[in-house]
Amino acid sequence: MLDTISIEKQVREQLSTINTESDLNALRIKYLGKAGAVSELLKGIKDIEPSGKKAYGEMVNALKNNVEAMIEKKTAELASAKITALLENAKMIDLTIPSQGEMGSLHPITVTTQKIVEIFKSMGFVFEQSNEVETEFNNFEAVNVPKNHPARDMQDTFYLSNGQVLSTHTSSSQNRVMKKYGAPLKAVFPGRCFRNEELDASHENTFFQLEGMVMDKNISIANLVYFMRQMLQSVFQKDLQVRLRPGFFPFVEPGFELDCSCIYCEGKGCKVCKQSGWIELCPCGMIHPAVLEMGGVNPNEYQGFAFGLGLSRLAMMMYNIDDIRVMNSGNLKQLKQIKIK
Ligand code: PHE
Repeated sequence: MLDTISIEKQVREQLSTINTESDLNALRIKYLGKAGAVSELLKGIKDIEPSGKKAYGEMVNALKNNVEAMIEKKTAELASAKITALLENAKMIDLTIPSQGEMGSLHPITVTTQKIVEIFKSMGFVFEQSNEVETEFNNFEAVNVPKNHPARDMQDTFYLSNGQVLSTHTSSSQNRVMKKYGAPLKAVFPGRCFRNEELDASHENTFFQLEGMVMDKNISIANLVYFMRQMLQSVFQKDLQVRLRPGFFPFVEPGFELDCSCIYCEGKGCKVCKQSGWIELCPCGMIHPAVLEMGGVNPNEYQGFAFGLGLSRLAMMMYNIDDIRVMNSGNLKQLKQIKIK
């Protein structure tokens, strides 16, 4: 007579003494492996009288299921014991012990981004992350730069084999953000951008921007000037003037370059502002009706403005960095000289 009960008991007893995965594995092989005890019993069905085959098969299968379940339970127990042990050890790391080596710090770009985002949040803006990899449509067509438009020349980038591009500006997220929230809307979305550039002290192939969009009824250029001035005054903790000059971007009409009075000489004229008293800071303008329409916003009902704040440029101003290439260099000798405030 087949005694499955005592085999189960055997397994249970042996399992209770097992503490390692390798012992458990050995036990699994001993009972469930190809030549294991349970497998041998299954093979033995060929020697059973035809009338008894069904009952025998059912018994061995039930045994097999029970042994599997017991082993599975033990596997889970061992895994959770392992995690508990890891956590116990983790408690040994005392995070309050002062660093033995050097302390790290946030990158100037990170600090600048956080500061500016906080200021915009306090003015009621929602925050989104701009994508680094975008569809060609979002990067170009959705902001009124169709295929073969000459404006694409100034924003040459990597075209990936899946048809996407490395984002050339944070404006590439305008369409996605408009479709997500609709109008009215106040949103900022910072991100990393990429362009084919001749590198020099003020041009990098990888840089950071912060895009802003405000859409509502009766929005005008006066609102744009107000928001930008408030933001810059909060960043630099100074009374500042801003001015607009005409600028061309296919996705705004009219388009501007926004300058702020030089933070170093307060407009008197110095080396940084090239004696002009003004620093060029931020391209901006009233969102083109075609861009609103592509984002699902009715241009007859809503207007808006958009701006593309150069975060790398702003970080350089905040931390007195005179070469943009320092930012991406990862050169600790240079980065350590920057005093993060
Ligand atoms: N995306 C433009 C650029 O990177 C800047 C911009 C943003 C201009 C929003 C107008 C409005 O050159």
